[in-house]
Amino acid sequence: MESRQVDYKKTGLVNTRDMFKKAISGGYAVPAYNFNNMEQLQAILLGCIETDSPVIIQVSKGARNYANPVLLRHMAAGAIEFIKSKGSNIPVALHLDHGDSFETCKSCIDSGFSSVMIDGSHLSYEENINVTRKVVEYAHKYDVTVEGELGILAGIEDDVIAEKSTYTKPEEVEDFVSKTGVDSLAISIGTSHGAYKFTPDQCTENEEGVLIPPPLKFDILEKIEKILPGYPIVLHGASSVVRKYVDMIDQYGGKLKDAVGIPESQLRKAARSAVCKINIDSDGRLAVTAVIRKVLSENKGEFDPRKYLGPARDELKQLIMHKNKEVLGSAGKA
Ligand code: G3H
Ligand code: 13P
Ligand code: ZN
Repeated sequence: MESRQVDYKKTGLVNTRDMFKKAISGGYAVPAYNFNNMEQLQAILLGCIETDSPVIIQVSKGARNYANPVLLRHMAAGAIEFIKSKGSNIPVALHLDHGDSFETCKSCIDSGFSSVMIDGSHLSYEENINVTRKVVEYAHKYDVTVEGELGILAGIEDDVIAEKSTYTKPEEVEDFVSKTGVDSLAISIGTSHGAYKFTPDQCTENEEGVLIPPPLKFDILEKIEKILPGYPIVLHGASSVVRKYVDMIDQYGGKLKDAVGIPESQLRKAARSAVCKINIDSDGRLAVTAVIRKVLSENKGEFDPRKYLGPARDELKQLIMHKNKEVLGSAGKA
């Protein structure tokens, strides 16, 4: 008996296969924005509708539990109706970010996700292959696409903290992809999760005292592209840690002083290559937090959440439009 309760195709969601094919031939990357609440989802959808961009809306296991799995799948189905009501038909994939086990991936596939990531990057190579292949076998029965990962990114994902990154070994990618049948591959080339991607001593300082991080390992990416021509590569940990928001947070009572991200020029270069999905979470968190801090600090008597969540949502929409147009190159590609 089929254990799947929801067929994502009936809700209007799409998997990532066509999106990635077009992104690779078009020299841009599809944005994958994390969300866990209504205002974030509204901002992501409005920003992508207005820039006419395809979009991957993604949730971690923690975010799915935060929102509630039942409510979340209805939010995603509602997203399609919302887009239609605005006279748009941009393609939307609902993706599990950093799935930690076959069971988590299966639960998402069964409840209407169109794409899942199985993150076996912390396992041994053989174990990573085994769990990834198992997820692919189940997902492909329902035409759900699967993202795997090789190499380890430093930073925080749910409860998993990796202190050090391990770059992806190009000599492993062909074997991994052919043994697992995975549809796309996340690689480690110097990005990391969160708002502190580099320590100040890993960076150089420019004349204005701004910390400049070390460049991404484009040599590794080029080797991978040569081994797997036309194959979809994914970049995690790709927030720029926008200075404007870090400064605003600090100005209104926060303390994020040495936060450093990936420069936009590096991401633009990656998006022109085989990188066809770029994951952004931290920048959205920073934008929302910066505006909420500012509004509450300037309006001490305010206690209507709409008065601070509304402006935070507007700012997030602007950020998303900027990313799509200037960084990922996905604007106009829906
Ligand atoms: O890569 C991780 C994402 O930023 C999700 O973060 O696990 O705190 O929801 P989270
Ligand atoms: P950032 O923390 O750089 O936004 O990365 C997000 C991410 O990779 C989600 O999977
Ligand atoms: Zn990630």
